[in-house]
Amino acid sequence: MKICRTEDELRKTRDAESLGGAPIGFVPTMGALHDGHLSLVRAARKANDVVVLSIFVNPLQFGPAEDFSAYPRDEERDLRLAEAEGVDIAFLPSVDEMYAPDRSTTVSVARISEVLEGKSRPGHFDGVCTVVAKLLNQVMAKRAYFGQKDAQQAAVVKRMVRDLSIPTEIVVCPIVREADGLAMSSRNAYLSAEERAHAANLFKSLKAGEAALAAGGGPGDAEAAMRDVLEATPAMRVDYAAAVDPETFDEALPGGPVLLAVAARVGPARLIDNLLVEAKRRT
Ligand code: PAF
Repeated sequence: MKICRTEDELRKTRDAESLGGAPIGFVPTMGALHDGHLSLVRAARKANDVVVLSIFVNPLQFGPAEDFSAYPRDEERDLRLAEAEGVDIAFLPSVDEMYAPDRSTTVSVARISEVLEGKSRPGHFDGVCTVVAKLLNQVMAKRAYFGQKDAQQAAVVKRMVRDLSIPTEIVVCPIVREADGLAMSSRNAYLSAEERAHAANLFKSLKAGEAALAAGGGPGDAEAAMRDVLEATPAMRVDYAAAVDPETFDEALPGGPVLLAVAARVGPARLIDNLLVEAKRRT
């Protein structure tokens, strides 16, 4: 596995590895790799000749009161895991390498970025879009892999790629869960044993929302059912419990698919999760 720390090194290494234009699969991450990330690497490995993984904790997507400095970092472990999964190129740029001091461009996707995560974390999606646009231009992959765990991020990135004609296909891979249903997340590392046990109720709330829809309820009933579970959980502070259209993140269309999405604080961690309920599973 080649390790590149500058854009120049990345471009040269990529050109050498992808001789003749062999397809590149790209997995952008902020490190602290877990099985969710590794499932993206495996999907990339299966469908492409060259796999590039980036590790960059992007300061632009953290708010001033968020966990940028506390975000878990373990480069050695991440590189070991990446190599074991057959990553060809690991790209680990510094903040200075990515952002010139007089950087003056921000990529912003309107509307879909302004609800749920965008409302709770102002500026977050501008930071995500700006770095993802830059990484996609640096890597020039045929396909880039994102997790459904960050459903709104995936939808926002898809919209950006479409609107800007970025020639990379965005592939969204399923959420990987622990045995009790908790979605894998680098932020789970912040939880004490007790908080970790309570955190499983995020998934339970989604299942309650799904049951409300299956029983013939509408999005409002699903939201109430999810909120009931979350609010009854000790140490949990609900941010939102929403039932929305999975593509636009606006109100769900009558009889259409519904994305159930929740966000809550559990101790020091802000966790999110979601569940897609297809139209056929609604009565
Ligand atoms: O999902 C993440 O880890 C990040 O938001 C991403 C896509 C790597 C951009 O920094």
